[in-house]
Amino acid sequence: MSKKRIFSGIQPSGNLTIGNYLGALKRFPELQDEYECIYCVVDLHTLTVRQDPVALRERSYALLALYMACGLDPEKTTLFLQSHVSGHAELAWILNCYTYMGELSRMTQFKDKSQKHADNINAGLFTYPVLMAADILLYQTDVVPIGQDQKQHLEIARDIAIRFNKLYGDTFVVPEAYIAKQGAKIMSLQEPDKKMSKSDTNVNNFVLLIEERDAIIKKFKRAVTDSGSEVRFDPDEKPGISNLLSIYAATRGITIDEAQAEFAGSRYGDFKIAVGTAVADMLAPIQARYKEILADKSYLDRVLHANAERASAIAEVTYRDVRRKVGFIV
Ligand code: TYM
Repeated sequence: MSKKRIFSGIQPSGNLTIGNYLGALKRFPELQDEYECIYCVVDLHTLTVRQDPVALRERSYALLALYMACGLDPEKTTLFLQSHVSGHAELAWILNCYTYMGELSRMTQFKDKSQKHADNINAGLFTYPVLMAADILLYQTDVVPIGQDQKQHLEIARDIAIRFNKLYGDTFVVPEAYIAKQGAKIMSLQEPDKKMSKSDTNVNNFVLLIEERDAIIKKFKRAVTDSGSEVRFDPDEKPGISNLLSIYAATRGITIDEAQAEFAGSRYGDFKIAVGTAVADMLAPIQARYKEILADKSYLDRVLHANAERASAIAEVTYRDVRRKVGFIV
């Protein structure tokens, strides 16, 4: 039996945070042998918010290098840039015509982002989930590893697939979300009621994957805690401490209960240093590999070229079927 297929993507819209890592990227290499994996640097998506072109190109290389530094092997796994495979934008156009304004208006990320970027509420921001659906459906994806915040987008992708299949007969695999038990929603260190985000303007809210050890530990030392003194998981009463427990559990690959037991009786200060140290230890080997890989741009270009061909070949099979089904001459 052939392996099930995984697809996921990350935007090169900023430096990655430990939220992106613990919620998504950390899972990717773990699934590499059991599944056929396709991981994309989704550069088309980033244009929904204004980007500096030079910085965007650099961040795209950086994200590819990070994928590899985290253990993804470009010989085994397809690692590519979304803009290198024209089928994403083309299928997105077709799927736009099978998606309703009402469904897109309900997307919480659209509401959040249009508040944040009130001067640039562009049509791309609105139809963004359709492009994401195209990414996933183009590859007949079975499983999509994502953080909690992308669940609503995955659901709309499923709805679009089911709708299209009903109209034209089986065309798309209906994908399932894979959301980790630990780490699927890492919150900001200073404002633990909001998600940790790479585009946050306050740098103390996030920890980057490429941040120096001392800076990481300092940020954790400064993390907001709650009143009381007990290290206990209680997201309503103790959002700061609970977030740190989630980070620790996801970092160490243990359960929240185990993490809580480890720090029973600990003072907040010692607990925060322990979390910072665990995160810095987890990131150290990734950072070392990342620097090495990023230094060789011509190698990265070769990887991108070869993998874009592989991805295009898979995508074209689906896209051709879709064109035929909707009535285009193929
Ligand atoms: P993006 O680039 O914002 O985030 C990449 C991945 O990181 C997860 N994530 C988090 N997980 C836990 N805690 C957090 N604070 C946190 N912040 C981000 C996200 O859930 C995501 O899995 N639309 C997507 C990119 C995308 C995609 C796709 C994903 C485009 N096409 C197809 C899967 C399949 C996005 O903006 O993710």
